Amino acid sequence: MPDLSKITCIEDLRVLAQRRVPRMFYDYADSGSYTEGTYRANEADFQYIKLRQRVAVNMTGRSTRSTMIGQDVAMPVAIAPTGLTGMQHADGEILGARAAQAFGIPFTLSTMSICSIEDVARHAGPGFWFQLYVMRDRDFIERLIDRAKAAGCSALQLTLDLQILGQRHKDIKNGLSTPPKPTLANLLNLATKPRWCLGMLGTQRRSFGNIVGHAKGVGDLSSLSSWTAEQFDPELNWGDVEWIKKRWGGKLILKGIMDAEDARLAADSGADALIVSNHGGRQLDGAPSSIAALPAIAAAVGRDIEVWMDGGIRSGQDVLKARALGAHGTMIGRSFLYGLGAHGEAGVARALQIIQRELDTTMAFCGHTDINTVDRSILLPGTYPEA
Ligand code: GLV
Repeated sequence: MPDLSKITCIEDLRVLAQRRVPRMFYDYADSGSYTEGTYRANEADFQYIKLRQRVAVNMTGRSTRSTMIGQDVAMPVAIAPTGLTGMQHADGEILGARAAQAFGIPFTLSTMSICSIEDVARHAGPGFWFQLYVMRDRDFIERLIDRAKAAGCSALQLTLDLQILGQRHKDIKNGLSTPPKPTLANLLNLATKPRWCLGMLGTQRRSFGNIVGHAKGVGDLSSLSSWTAEQFDPELNWGDVEWIKKRWGGKLILKGIMDAEDARLAADSGADALIVSNHGGRQLDGAPSSIAALPAIAAAVGRDIEVWMDGGIRSGQDVLKARALGAHGTMIGRSFLYGLGAHGEAGVARALQIIQRELDTTMAFCGHTDINTVDRSILLPGTYPEA
């Protein structure tokens, strides 16, 4: 086990990941669409929200334990689905799932993962969540749902905000593909990433494990953008949510809700949770940050469906603020990927530990010892977005 005691915040992991992960994959994770305005706002908007310090409150016996869709969690944080995770670090999805399980929080496997559903179940155990993208090939989607069920996934997360792909300039400039094509620029960059290369040489998992060998007539799968344009279903609508819910038959989470009207439709669909999310600022550039969108959605449907949020969480303080503004649960994407890229499974474990300790301490400074009692009263009036 490496000594990670000098890694004290998520930013430390980000810096290390940037050094260790090939540029095209680091950039893929750490960018937003177009001007990246929404991507930046996700993180920046948390900073405007101020916490009320309370003193002389008994701080013993603290707990960050809570639930998400009825599952016990060590803190109200789950790992978000992220595409190409196994390119941030060899076998990344398996390592991420293991670290999450050891910590006691849920892990979500993306449709666009490198390790397949079956592979993750075999090497990290069942119970993780599966994220579904809907493609034109409905047979393939039905089989994918059935595979997630057979592998013992305990919830399905349906992403609603990616029928088409927002443009991320860096992916085009870097020629993003998996595995990377042996161009001179790529080879020069890979030569500076010996740890990553060594890991990749030791694994067979280098392309989209859920798709290769399962979907018929896949085109240029190495290029995510052309594959999305070719295969993802631009006709996805609320009627599809209904048949997917029926086919799956288990806990259903709807991801990508940014509007109170859509939140109402999500609640009426009978789903178990919705995620206020702008896809990490990777889709509609110009959308508000997730934390700014959260209060109105929580006010509109928070009594009818569990409301969660993702986007911009880089600390336990951020988790606490989201919770105060009505998010029963939160999800982390980049904070997880930085840990993975920096130090594999140990790096993910460290990221989770950092966030939990920050959450625990900050909650106490705000006068609470149980995360489940935290509400808007811990925030300084006038510093947070209103419903
Ligand atoms: C989806 O997987 C993305 O690249 O945002």
